[in-house]
Amino acid sequence: MYWSKFFIPTLKEVPLGVEAVSHQLLLRAGLVHMLTSGVYSYLPLGFRVLRNIENIIREEMNKAGAHELLLPSLHPVELWKKTGRNVTLAEVMIRFEDKKGRAMCLGPTHEEVITDLVQSYVQSYRQLPLTLYQIQTKFRDEIRPRFGVVRACEFIMKDAYSFDDDKAGLEKNYQLQYTAYQNIFERCGLKTVVLEADSGAMGGDISHEFMVPAPIGEDEIYSCSSCHFQGGIKSAGDPSNLLCPKCKSGRLEKQVAIELGHIFQLGTKYSQAMNAVFLDATGKQKPIIMGCYGIGVSRLIAAVVEKNNDSKGIIWPKEVAPFDLEIVPVQTSDQAIMDLSNKFYVELQQKGISVLFDDRDESAGIRFKDADLIGLPFRLVLGKRTVSENKIEIKNRRTDETLLVNIDEAVNKIAALLN
Ligand SMILES: Nc1ncnc2c1ncn2[C@@H]1O[C@H](COP(=O)(O)OP(=O)(O)O)[C@@H](O)[C@H]1O
Ligand SMILES: [Mg+2]
Ligand SMILES: [Zn+2]
Repeated sequence: MYWSKFFIPTLKEVPLGVEAVSHQLLLRAGLVHMLTSGVYSYLPLGFRVLRNIENIIREEMNKAGAHELLLPSLHPVELWKKTGRNVTLAEVMIRFEDKKGRAMCLGPTHEEVITDLVQSYVQSYRQLPLTLYQIQTKFRDEIRPRFGVVRACEFIMKDAYSFDDDKAGLEKNYQLQYTAYQNIFERCGLKTVVLEADSGAMGGDISHEFMVPAPIGEDEIYSCSSCHFQGGIKSAGDPSNLLCPKCKSGRLEKQVAIELGHIFQLGTKYSQAMNAVFLDATGKQKPIIMGCYGIGVSRLIAAVVEKNNDSKGIIWPKEVAPFDLEIVPVQTSDQAIMDLSNKFYVELQQKGISVLFDDRDESAGIRFKDADLIGLPFRLVLGKRTVSENKIEIKNRRTDETLLVNIDEAVNKIAALLN
């Protein structure tokens, strides 16, 4: 991609009133744009990151045996009355009446819609187990949208739902999703802490939250000062006075964290309310046993940036980076430099490497600053002086290291660095 023909509206100034580092950087690097509080556009560079994350999620979901589908965002409120969540979720639900006078809402989540779908097709244990997922826009009328795409009113979620004929099946699917979640976050360059949510209030349902410690987090986790324990603390009272539940001697330190994913063993809560039943091998009718598994895809982008940046800008982990590498010719008016840059542009792409070529008629200084800001993993710098010595520069954004390599060895060297 040629920068001059692309759309990357970088900003020089930090927008006023924007607190979170990730939010500042996503705006400054031209990845997202705010339409109104809690509502964001993904600009071409941000959209490429979104696609990369979605594809990681798809690969891991497919590996876990889940099948992708796409459910509607427009729901009749009538359906939500079956579980009573038109009342319990009333605060976040965006509702309206259509021209035919039907009460409608924009889906804040999809347990009702998917359970309704599955109950209309599944009759027998032979059709189970089944895990379905989608990557789709959710709508929640958040009272306090915050930190840009971290807590938005319109956001992208991956939601998966498993359907089993017994508890062992649910536990197996739950474990598959748990492992998929660990793989997804690791591939996105994030270290997560998994919290087993307090089961008491939820009627014994098992649930786990995948958290990333970060100053903008809205949840609390505790880590031990002497062992490796990290987790939630169920006990009432002030946990900072408590001893570590694992080693029983270390002091607990509180950290705030962002919730990125949440998985639940739902059991028969929804299937009973919506009459999603099947006949077992003996012909006995039973409610389907369900699990649900959510990841905030758009929130994940913010978390990646929150954890991967420095004073100069974003530092993308390899798998989510909008491009693998940026080519920066120092002298854009020098035809030989531009020809050589173009040659690299073609050859690198032939190797399957995605390349952004900053061919803009701007000073090298401005373009270097923008390169640091948008944070692609590698930068190839072609300057008259080094090229006259038959060399070019490869710069690693994360380590700040610069390699000077022979021109004819550069393509192979870059391919090796990216592997
Ligand atoms: N308002 C929001 N904006 C962006 N992402 C969200 C929002 N609400 C939830 N998410 C993401 O979707 C995932 C699943 O949502 P869920 O557990 O139903 O939400 P909550 O924890 O807010 O009840 C969350 O772990 C989070 O990553
Ligand atoms: Mg949650
Ligand atoms: Zn400890």
